[in-house]
Amino acid sequence: MARAVSMRIDSEVKPMLTERRNTKMVLKLKSLLVVAMVSIGFFFGNIALAETVERGRYLTKIAGCNDCHTQGYLLSDGKVPETSWLAGDNFGWRGPWGTTYGSNLRLFIAGMTEKRWVAAARALKRRPTMPWFNLNVMKDEDLKGIYHFVRSLGPAGAPAPAYVPPDQEPKTPYALFPTPQK
Ligand code: HEC
Repeated sequence: MARAVSMRIDSEVKPMLTERRNTKMVLKLKSLLVVAMVSIGFFFGNIALAETVERGRYLTKIAGCNDCHTQGYLLSDGKVPETSWLAGDNFGWRGPWGTTYGSNLRLFIAGMTEKRWVAAARALKRRPTMPWFNLNVMKDEDLKGIYHFVRSLGPAGAPAPAYVPPDQEPKTPYALFPTPQK
């Protein structure tokens, strides 16, 4: 009797147990594979994002954004720590249009999605001295670079001084532009 039971276990139950173990192994391997693929995805995603941020850092320097949007940048030969970049400037640009100030781009971009920023930059039109026409024609990947660089800095500082109409004297230092000759 005992022998018969043991034979049954050998012939029917053991293969079932082995099969269950195999299924478990396959499941484990599958989940390991998924984890590996997700990690690889994150790894390359992070490299891609780091490259985008680096592109933005470079463009911010060479396209002049810092010159007008970073306090003290232009007159210190660019010697302003990156943590203070693009937080706006209280040096005015005065001309027939009134007096304008380089806005705080850290705050401007803070609440925006990448898509909204790209659309806003494409359609942007402002008073002098903002070269908005240059921003309008920037390639998508350049605009995205600037976006992710500014986002990597995070929001900081206060809004730049408000626009002053032409007939009012600004309370800040400013550069005076002559009325353009027609
Ligand atoms: C020569 C100076 C100058 C340069 C260079 C410059 N800006 Fe500006 N920017 C300004 C001024 C001044 C204003 C505010 C204009 C106004 O009040 O109408 C402005 C406004 C803006 C605004 C609108 C912000 C808002 O709050 O409405 C954006 C966005 C902007 N600039 C982005 C950039 C970027 C990005 C770069 C670099 C590619 C750049 N600017 C280069 C002077 C400049």
